[in-house]
Amino acid sequence: MPTERKLRIGLAGIGTVGGGVWANLARNADLLQRRCGATLEVVRVLARRADRARELGIPEAILTADPERLTADPAVDVVVELIGGTTDADRLIRASLAAGKHVVTANKALLAKHGRELFALASQYRRQLLFEASVAGGIPLIKALREGLVANRIESIYGIINGTCNYILSLMNDRGLGYAEALADAKAKGYAEADESLDVEGHDAAHKAAVITALAYGFWVPEGELPTEGIAGVRRPDIIYARQLGYELKLLAVIKADPDDSVEVRVQPTLVPKSHVLASVGGVFNAVMVRGDVVGDTLYYGRGAGAHPTASAVISDLAELACLGSEGIYRLPVGCGTCAHRLKPIEDIISRYYLRLAVVDQPGVLARVATILAAHRIGISSVIQPESHEGDTVPLVVMLHDAQERAVRAAIAEIAQQDVVRAQPVTYRVEDFET
Ligand SMILES: NC(=O)c1ccc[n+]([C@@H]2O[C@H](COP(=O)([O-])OP(=O)(O)OC[C@H]3O[C@@H](n4cnc5c(N)ncnc54)[C@H](OP(=O)(O)O)[C@@H]3O)[C@@H](O)[C@H]2O)c1
Repeated sequence: MPTERKLRIGLAGIGTVGGGVWANLARNADLLQRRCGATLEVVRVLARRADRARELGIPEAILTADPERLTADPAVDVVVELIGGTTDADRLIRASLAAGKHVVTANKALLAKHGRELFALASQYRRQLLFEASVAGGIPLIKALREGLVANRIESIYGIINGTCNYILSLMNDRGLGYAEALADAKAKGYAEADESLDVEGHDAAHKAAVITALAYGFWVPEGELPTEGIAGVRRPDIIYARQLGYELKLLAVIKADPDDSVEVRVQPTLVPKSHVLASVGGVFNAVMVRGDVVGDTLYYGRGAGAHPTASAVISDLAELACLGSEGIYRLPVGCGTCAHRLKPIEDIISRYYLRLAVVDQPGVLARVATILAAHRIGISSVIQPESHEGDTVPLVVMLHDAQERAVRAAIAEIAQQDVVRAQPVTYRVEDFET
């Protein structure tokens, strides 16, 4: 009789995701055993709250509050880091790798900050550092990029990768709510944290964009250098005008390679044509479109967060380790300079733009705006003047042709100073997904 193969798991963190992993490993234990030819067994659990452990039915004998009892335990093959944050989690992962353990993590904030060093460390100790759950929750995007699309040069990636923001924008779009009301609804439904800033300021999506960039293009965007704008400043009139022009406003991560090997990486509210599939992604759902030079366009859609979808991704990493055996396959470290790509400076990015001005209601205003834009070599593709008044000002919405960010910034600074312009201009990029 062959001896039973086992993957012995140390589970760190039993919050939303950790609880989901514990429950679903138990629920589908037999199925996983048959598929992997090995048993996936949790042999130790790091937790601070005994009541939560009891609630999940975790036996006291395998519980510890001391991270060292996890990292130093010879009976643990893989540490699953689900405590979050960038300090204790960093320490835990480094100690686990140094102790010869594989690591599975869902922690995009940590990877965006220390990914380069952590993958180098994993490579040094010849251990696996797997991170399927760090981007787009239950959608197997990391495996798609790493395995399914390995034959491709990645030309572009467009993603709706923050479900909280997409939910808020969907409510503003579909139910006519203002930003504050939509945020309150997202909090009441548990889609937004008490401190919502990581989501609505765009940082969570930026962390995920950094992870995808490292995987697709081999470099880590230095912390703080990824152009990031969240949805906290989005106002309903812009959603309405965008719709009148044939677009939906979405928080979009854009990752696009230029022929000169520079890569545009940004996270911003962006106008997406209504006819494009990403425009119809509503609620808490995520969707990512990846264009490869061999395969063409591919699309990935599903739940980007939550205990069960995220557990599905974490367990897929564990299953990979279980299937491959203790040594597994050797992978080059992610994003450690294996190709020539580099971040494109934001000022060089070329895009179409939506521009909304609050202007004095008098003749000749549009001509003045057009003259300034023309002086910066920026063309106008269309103009709408919605019938709405706020005091003595009226909105003027101008769609701009492709222009460089540097020129647009300069033109807008000049426009903002005109006496006929009564508020800070509002701009959003427009994405046409051209081939
Ligand atoms: N939630 C999602 O849908 C989702 C989706 C994708 C990825 N992720 C990522 O998954 C990770 C976990 O997220 P989560 O939503 O599960 O968070 P969570 O619900 O806050 O759970 C984190 C758990 O870790 C525990 N913890 C924190 N520091 C610890 C320490 N030093 N020692 C022991 N336990 C510690 C916390 O205990 P206390 O209760 O005592 O604080 C809590 O139980 C994060 O990196 C997150 O970004 C989450």
